[in-house]
Amino acid sequence: MKTLITNIEIIDAAGRRPGKILIEDGKIKKVYKEKGLVRVEFDEEIDGGGYALLPGFIDMHCHLRDPGFEYKETMETGMKAALKGGFTSLVAMANTKPIIDNPGDLKKNRMKASELDLCQLIQVSALTRNFGEDDMVDFDSLRPFTNVFSNDGVSILREDIMIKGLEASTVYDFILLTHCQPETSLVKRDIELLEKVGGHLHVCHISKKDTLEAIGLAKDKGLDITCEVTPHHLFASAMEYKVNPPFRTYPDRRALIEGIKDGVIDMFGTDHAPHSEEDKKKGAPGIDNFEIAFSMYYTVFEQNGIKLEKLSEMLSEGPAKRLGLKAGLIKERYPADLVLVDLNWEGKINPKEFISKSKNNPFGGETLKGKILMTIVKGNVKYDDYRSTI
Ligand code: DOR
Ligand code: ZN
Repeated sequence: MKTLITNIEIIDAAGRRPGKILIEDGKIKKVYKEKGLVRVEFDEEIDGGGYALLPGFIDMHCHLRDPGFEYKETMETGMKAALKGGFTSLVAMANTKPIIDNPGDLKKNRMKASELDLCQLIQVSALTRNFGEDDMVDFDSLRPFTNVFSNDGVSILREDIMIKGLEASTVYDFILLTHCQPETSLVKRDIELLEKVGGHLHVCHISKKDTLEAIGLAKDKGLDITCEVTPHHLFASAMEYKVNPPFRTYPDRRALIEGIKDGVIDMFGTDHAPHSEEDKKKGAPGIDNFEIAFSMYYTVFEQNGIKLEKLSEMLSEGPAKRLGLKAGLIKERYPADLVLVDLNWEGKINPKEFISKSKNNPFGGETLKGKILMTIVKGNVKYDDYRSTI
């Protein structure tokens, strides 16, 4: 099956150019840099309508709630919402019920994802058994199925556990993702440990200026550390709405924007965290984010004059690099994971329209820019705004 996508502006971390793309067997077979006629045989043509075509977004951080919290979200509803948001690959956290801390449960989720055939799933394993403080997980049996380990949702307060985790990240060659509260002091401790024992560290949802400075210094020393920022911490400050980490001050938010510009922040992660209305009322932290994440990022980028190439780097190339995936760019032999975007669309957020099972989002009524028109995974159209296939 050969598909030709025409009438597009190609935008990725490498630049912006008009072009056409030929897809074959789920991969980008050829990128034509010019407009005009292409003499090639194909089975199907997708007319891009003059819109922007970007590499599929890779979400470094989300919660799909499956198994165990299906009343908040299922893998299916989460992935459909993610596709509507332009995400083609998802790193799903392990704070499910049961917690994903063994190969059996991890493989079940991988199987579920491949049967659903929606987004590509990178299932995170817990770092410690049941997120506890007694035992580390069995890295030997888990590592063949994932290269991402994290107790996200829970901070690793004990130094000896953090040391064991960092050491294992070197021995087993995986990325250790941390959730740090209190943020700056814990990140600083982890950086000290990283300097002492080595390892591959990724700090989740950075929200403070001081944290960013600490990470910048660690990078200057050549340590293997990366970090991400969420759409909500970038978009707003000083809100009461409950999220972990909480909304910070306006100066913190400004610092995050600078951190993107100067390259200290490596990528985005939505921290999509669906909750039922009742759970929110009881104080559960989290925002349902998939469907508006791109528009939130893009709106902030527009307001601050940051280029779209950078946006694509944060959404696709950055996470792909960290995860060791050959993906995240519009390049020959790369997977045909693609998103068609209307960059001029402007409209108001209405969480009631979310297809995610939960609707917990405080930004209803805000005006955002940019809309996902189509999401393609391995050459197959999985979401089409026009035809509303989902
Ligand atoms: O707001 C959050 N919600 N932050 C987290 O770290 C966990 C997440 C959740 O699982 O609900
Ligand atoms: Zn977290």
